[in-house]
Amino acid sequence: MNSNAKLELTKEEMTAYGYKVVDAIVEHFDTQHTKKPVAFASREEMDSLFLEQAPEQPSDAKQVLDFVLQEVMSKSAIVSHPKSYSFVPGPSNYVSAMADTLATGFNIFSGGWAASPAAAELEIITIGWLLKIFGFPKKKGGGIFTSGGSMANLTAIVTARRIKCGDDFSKAVIYLSDQAHSSNIKAIRVLGFRKEQIQIIPTDGDFKVSLNKLKNCIAKDRLRGMQPFCYVATAGTTNTGTVDPLTEISKICKQEDIWFHIDAAYGGAAILAKNGKQLLKGIDKADSLTVDPHKWFYQPYEMGCLLVRDHKWLKNTFTEKPEYLRDVEGNESEINFYDHGIQLTRRFRALKFYMSVKTFGLSAFRKAITYNIQLAEKVETILRKSKKWEIISPATLAVINFRYNPIGNTWNELQLDAMNQYISSQVINSREALLVTTLLNGHVVLRMCLINPRTTLDDVKETLALCEEFATQKAAL
Ligand SMILES: Cc1ncc(COP(=O)(O)O)c(C=O)c1O
Repeated sequence: MNSNAKLELTKEEMTAYGYKVVDAIVEHFDTQHTKKPVAFASREEMDSLFLEQAPEQPSDAKQVLDFVLQEVMSKSAIVSHPKSYSFVPGPSNYVSAMADTLATGFNIFSGGWAASPAAAELEIITIGWLLKIFGFPKKKGGGIFTSGGSMANLTAIVTARRIKCGDDFSKAVIYLSDQAHSSNIKAIRVLGFRKEQIQIIPTDGDFKVSLNKLKNCIAKDRLRGMQPFCYVATAGTTNTGTVDPLTEISKICKQEDIWFHIDAAYGGAAILAKNGKQLLKGIDKADSLTVDPHKWFYQPYEMGCLLVRDHKWLKNTFTEKPEYLRDVEGNESEINFYDHGIQLTRRFRALKFYMSVKTFGLSAFRKAITYNIQLAEKVETILRKSKKWEIISPATLAVINFRYNPIGNTWNELQLDAMNQYISSQVINSREALLVTTLLNGHVVLRMCLINPRTTLDDVKETLALCEEFATQKAAL
């Protein structure tokens, strides 16, 4: 092949190439459940497959694609696999995957109105859908799509600090519980807060923040001349799915003039299910809210979202007016999303949300989320009936924590920890299911996050049976 200084393929080549890519994606969606969800490989193995200098000479396009399909795609965990239970899975959906392909194919710049009014409009519309879903003020409220929950939390905390403290945040203090997601601490570190400006509030036995400890801490901080400015609540903790007491916290925040941020990155979507909505009562009281469409709204990566009660807060925090953007400013209603967040150049994230909700209808999302919550409850029932398993934290927003602890055994806590760690390692080694542990109150537990609508009760039963097999093996050692 000759060097191709325009980086182009012929129309026929592009067509063949594209069909091959789509065929591979369709095949993946169609057959993923027959594959193993876990991928592991050592750095040496990966180096031996991929390591090379940037090639000066071209290669055949089809050969490169074949190599990638064969070697790269097969060596990643399948986070949309029905037996992918760990972390927060990414169930995704085909329509949104294709929407992302379109957005990338057309390389749509989703930063400003002038460049792509339709992209900006679809972001306004879909953010509007989410504002309504979460009971935020529809007219005054606003928001922005981000790469994920981490960026949404960072955007929220920057905004809170700007609105509550202005330029002088030397005495500002931020509060969050010991169950808050690590991305919040990361955001706080990015923002340069000192140690004495960060208060981690202990949770009670239910993993909810202790309101008394929060109130005491705020009072003490005021006494030492600090400025409490933001509380980060969690609606759906990553560990246990627990929802902080949102209504009570909103009252404290109001009394204390503290910004109320809720990180509902994974759990927020449960508002579309009846019992989820009950659990999330008070979510509409937040000043800002993180929800992650790339988790339980079934969107492919990357898609997070920050909603705010007043869109002007974002504008007042992020607007910069460099001379090279003076010709594209537009008017008030024509939003330039680069003025509402950190990124200037942004991909067109709204498209996948728009196309998938239009295609399937919100009712499909409601059913899928309801199914997920009920599935976790059924798993809890099965585990409770069994003589081998112990529930450590009940099914909440489709997350359940449990451990192998057969009735009548004489193992101490250390032995139980070792047993459950062993079960998880063996399951991972078998590659049959992605089931890792977490620590609750310092002890090893198995955790399932059942937000994939393609996971069946039989999938879970098979995984539990596999766990029991490994446990029996270990017990016999
Ligand atoms: C509660 C919560 N907040 C924030 C995040 C971070 O989101 P992301 O991984 O999309 O950056 C997660 C991820 O699991 C989460 O569960």
